Amino acid sequence: MQTLTVGLGERSYPIHIGSGLLNRADLLLPHLPHMRAAIVTNSTVAPLYLDSLRAMLAIYDVDTIPIILPDGEEYKNAETLGLIYDGLLTHRCERTTPLIALGGGVIGDMTGYAAATYLRGVPFIQIPTTLLAQVDSSVGGKTGINHPLGKNMIGAFYQPQVVLADIATLNTLTDEHLSGGIAEVIKYGLIRDLPFFEWLEQNMEKLLARDAEALQYAIVRSCQNKAEVVAADERESGERALLNLGHTFGHAIETGSGYGTWLHGEAVAAGTIMATDLSHRLGWVCAEDVARIRRLFKRADLQVDGPPLGTEIYLQLMGLDKKVEGGKMRFVLLKSIGQAVVTGDVPEQLLRQTLNACIKHD
Ligand code: NAD
Ligand code: GLY
Repeated sequence: MQTLTVGLGERSYPIHIGSGLLNRADLLLPHLPHMRAAIVTNSTVAPLYLDSLRAMLAIYDVDTIPIILPDGEEYKNAETLGLIYDGLLTHRCERTTPLIALGGGVIGDMTGYAAATYLRGVPFIQIPTTLLAQVDSSVGGKTGINHPLGKNMIGAFYQPQVVLADIATLNTLTDEHLSGGIAEVIKYGLIRDLPFFEWLEQNMEKLLARDAEALQYAIVRSCQNKAEVVAADERESGERALLNLGHTFGHAIETGSGYGTWLHGEAVAAGTIMATDLSHRLGWVCAEDVARIRRLFKRADLQVDGPPLGTEIYLQLMGLDKKVEGGKMRFVLLKSIGQAVVTGDVPEQLLRQTLNACIKHD
């Protein structure tokens, strides 16, 4: 097992990464001093991991309340959030009762938001079970839900007390979700870690084969990158925005196609290709590196072309992005592999050319 720290002063917390951590009571018990917790999960993850987690905690007399939500991005909304509050109130959960998120990014984001708001804030523990959640969403405290008009538009910054990433849980993940997580792993190489990008070029097949050593390395390296960025800019007033490479386009793909149609990681992959294309049109990343980036996403079994929503729909949905300032769209783009920047200076003509080149046409 390896342990990293997200350095946020009094709110600093550990990220434990290793195989078999779901059985490690010693990592959880220090965060459960009142011997009670609510475990929020979904109908897919519950049959796989809920009973064993509850049984392990029961050995130490920790009483657990299961709250099982429907599975899917399309349920990451206010109505499903209400089910968490229903469960917490029905079982009279108190300010000292931590919420444990057991699942992927959807469960982590919703549980975190419930923890931030229930009784104005209760402790929160992340047990991410998808690659995407282990390398990205469980770390850094962004929590929230979708709105029909825009992705992740309602939420709060609210940090967990501990993150427990058990890489053994990735063995039950579908290939599509594994690839979706790899999209966010590639992101770290692109925005700030060229040697990691090169490592990914050397080791992509091992990751796809779920080689435990390669997965452990990729998760630790991703979390190191994320922890550094979050420690420097928790509330996204600067550097943290770089973590959104591909997301302005990607969120438009997810919202425009209907939540759940494109996986988040798939949309980020196609969105990153668009951001790369736009960067090249601005004279930044060179043609050879554009091709190199496309190749790596394709090797990860990710689609590189966006869905045929039409240019105007993309533009309209991108105008709802959280990075919009003073009505002006801002983009995370690449100067080169390993160096990203945020810019608002993108001529609309170039943006239209990128969309035209990177989306499928009916
Ligand atoms: P997800 O939570 O929908 O999980 C993907 C699928 O895998 C689901 O069907 C889930 O039930 C299933 N699953 C989870 N663990 C499993 C396991 N071990 N074995 C088998 N199946 C398993 O999707 P995701 O890709 O984990 O997360 C995407 C979400 O994360 C999006 O809503 C996105 O907005 C959010 N996100 C948040 C942040 C953040 O910083 N908070 C960062 C990136 C993404
Ligand atoms: N996933 C983007 C962030 O955490 O800032």
